[in-house]
Amino acid sequence: MRVLVTGGAGYIGSVVAAQLVAAGHDVTVLDDLSTGYADAVPPGATFVKGTLRDCSAEVLSDGAEAVLHFAANSLVGESVANPAKYWSNNLGGTVTLLEAMREIGVRTIVFSSTAAVYGEPERTPVTETDPTRPTSPYGASKVAVDTTLTEFCRLYGFGAVSLRYFNVAGAYQALDGHGAGSWLGERHNPETHLIPNVLAAATEGRPVRIFGGDYPTPDGTCVRDYIHVTDLADAHLRALGACRPGQHRVYNLGNGAGFSVREVIEVCREVTGADIAADVAPRRAGDPAVLVASSAKIASELGWRASLDLRAMAADAWHFTQARASR
Ligand code: UFG
Repeated sequence: MRVLVTGGAGYIGSVVAAQLVAAGHDVTVLDDLSTGYADAVPPGATFVKGTLRDCSAEVLSDGAEAVLHFAANSLVGESVANPAKYWSNNLGGTVTLLEAMREIGVRTIVFSSTAAVYGEPERTPVTETDPTRPTSPYGASKVAVDTTLTEFCRLYGFGAVSLRYFNVAGAYQALDGHGAGSWLGERHNPETHLIPNVLAAATEGRPVRIFGGDYPTPDGTCVRDYIHVTDLADAHLRALGACRPGQHRVYNLGNGAGFSVREVIEVCREVTGADIAADVAPRRAGDPAVLVASSAKIASELGWRASLDLRAMAADAWHFTQARASR
């Protein structure tokens, strides 16, 4: 299948693009490289550098049959400081993409959504029918895209799947092609995510900061549901096959188990062999105490199950960190 992957030079998009290429699909990546890296685009894919706004029509017009849409700004804190950027790029950019799809006649789309749509959930685990009450412009922009997708499905016969990721972690090692052996992983700047920050602390021999030690959780630190990026990529391939004209489906993606910040740091100590010190710092604004997904819906409807545990996520992220350090 001819697939357009927007944001395919980013962390998750590049792993999905690599798996699509490995599965024999014909992949075009559109990415403006504002946060992605050209060297993360799999060698077997065609790469176009540009924004959704400027290039959607051009990249769709060469025979694309489906779109996997990752391109977005995704920093919660930045979205609070600059909401217009999030409305403009995440919602505005997506509307341009959808309009170009409509005009060209491409009606299949898998959308990269987030647990941030739920805000501060009232119960755990979170199911897809729980209320969406985002607490940041980032989460709100993703809810707005979901609303738009529902409309495009109803009005124009699009078939869409939104995947609401919880905490994505780990790295992917390319299996074949001339990218074989190379690791794709998280390279955010600034890095805000826990596991890469803990591993950076291990590498640099300095303490990691724990944001908040007084949450109403068993050890006082926030609990999150971590999912391996390879499992996430597998869900995208299944979602692509599950798009049906006129339907917009929404699935949560997580492991269904929560781990505290302290537990994550402990697993990173085991994997790295480093005695990583941790200092408790003030809470980070907007962090919910507990975020754990129910992935029962995607399990029963698409047969998807997480196969890799937290240890595998930390170990693969560590492989990626070390591979980069030795380059
Ligand atoms: N944390 C630390 N120290 C760090 C980094 C993170 O203690 O150096 C803590 C955070 O406070 C949080 C937990 O580790 O309690 C996980 O934080 P991440 O930044 O790794 O992930 P988030 O849970 O904040 O982010 C996830 C998704 C976002 C989504 C958000 C919704 O990655 O896309 O949940 O709350 F927007």
